[in-house]
Amino acid sequence: MPKVIAMAGKGGTGKTTISALLIKYLKNRGITPVLAVDADSNANLNELLNLKVGLTIGQVRKELKGDIPAGMTRDQFMEMKIHQALVEESGFDLLVMGQPDGPGCYCAANQHLAMTMDHLGENYPVILVDNEAGMEHLSRMNLRDIDLLLVTSDPSARGIMTAKRISDLTGPLGVTIKKQCLIVNRVPAPAPAELRHKIDQAVAESGLELGGLIPASADLVNQELSGESYLDLSEDTPAVRTAFTIFDRVLAD
Ligand SMILES: Nc1ncnc2c1ncn2[C@@H]1O[C@H](COP(=O)(O)OP(=O)(O)O)[C@@H](O)[C@H]1O
Ligand SMILES: [Mg+2]
Repeated sequence: MPKVIAMAGKGGTGKTTISALLIKYLKNRGITPVLAVDADSNANLNELLNLKVGLTIGQVRKELKGDIPAGMTRDQFMEMKIHQALVEESGFDLLVMGQPDGPGCYCAANQHLAMTMDHLGENYPVILVDNEAGMEHLSRMNLRDIDLLLVTSDPSARGIMTAKRISDLTGPLGVTIKKQCLIVNRVPAPAPAELRHKIDQAVAESGLELGGLIPASADLVNQELSGESYLDLSEDTPAVRTAFTIFDRVLAD
């Protein structure tokens, strides 16, 4: 079972949606507790899970730069703050990264933070990171080893090319990625033959394996609109069932 699962893909292609469905899957399968990390500076995974977020890691980092309460070491203070930032739910905990530091800030606070995050991660069988489009976060978060990278795409030729490019770009980041799978999302039924051809081509020419195709789903749209948690979607919802089959496949070794 992979330990660190991370999402990648162009904005709007379904990274957060698939993250929410994957949390649901891992909960259902009893692969818990999951540490879900929302690494999008415009955090919104919590919304799909119908959860409120208080403190973000960005805010913790800021507090660390200020005065520490008397009688506490910086490490103790940080540990306490990170636990405050953790939204604890049944089967998973959610950590929201919030706003990143300015570029190139490798100050002591960041180093400390990365170490504490590493330490925190040891308590979970699975860490799931929902990213924004870029992959810089992964290296910034001190996640050097990713067991499974899920690259999402919309059902267009350019989308598939972009997913392939994202996959090609992971090399120089200094992050080791064991397995990368392509998930094409919001696919119309039936999937156009030309789309299948483009997918096969991208998979043949890259390090990507095909995870699968998720249909365009009014159920997902309606659940989001109603503000109800994706965790409460029925497993019989076709898009959920398809996603679960994909997860079965990509998580099998
Ligand atoms: N399979 C799907 N069917 C219909 N709508 C979807 C599907 N997957 C995602 N969406 C919708 O597309 C939008 C973008 O998805 P999101 O997961 O937020 O993308 P990302 O995190 O990659 O930016 C959301 O409004 C979401 O509800
Ligand atoms: Mg997102």
